[in-house]
Amino acid sequence: MTKPSIVLCGFMGCGKTTVGKVLARQLGWQFVDMDQLIEEQAGMTVSQIFEEKGEDAFRAMEREAVRRLSAKPSLVIATGGGVLTFPENVQIFHRAGCPIVLLDVPPEEVVRRLQGDTSRPLLNVPNRLEAIRQLHAKRLPLYQKAADLQVDATKPPELVAQNITLSLKSNKFSRNG
Ligand code: S3P
Repeated sequence: MTKPSIVLCGFMGCGKTTVGKVLARQLGWQFVDMDQLIEEQAGMTVSQIFEEKGEDAFRAMEREAVRRLSAKPSLVIATGGGVLTFPENVQIFHRAGCPIVLLDVPPEEVVRRLQGDTSRPLLNVPNRLEAIRQLHAKRLPLYQKAADLQVDATKPPELVAQNITLSLKSNKFSRNG
């Protein structure tokens, strides 16, 4: 029996890739990281795409990836932090029956986890802490509107993945929007 893919959503540094790999292993499903997929297809890093083609071009690549991935069953998909801030992308996943799971971490934890990281173009700004706070505040309501389930992602990845599986299995989630 094929099952709709599980989509992980949340701010940069919330652990979508780390938790996604663990969850995929626990379920015996394939893991897909959208940023990595886009990088492979473009033959460029996300930073290079932002620099050379611009953010709009990157968002178009994300939309295309969402379209293609939503048609495939039994994947654990780690989205990039911007993907589910676009209602069009949310709609595509929901129409395909994919549950969207928000990995929730406070901005202070994001700052701590991303210390020294230079791979996120949106965060390569002079006042990083302020940029994270502002972007996080702007995006959280969008993530929450998109998500069918929200989990505390400050816990160890194995525990977060188990919580996701248990909640989805017992249907302890409802669509918000
Ligand atoms: C972005 C998040 C990044 C990556 C790009 C833009 C965003 O992915 O897609 O730098 O807009 O939040 P991660 O959430 O995996 O860091």
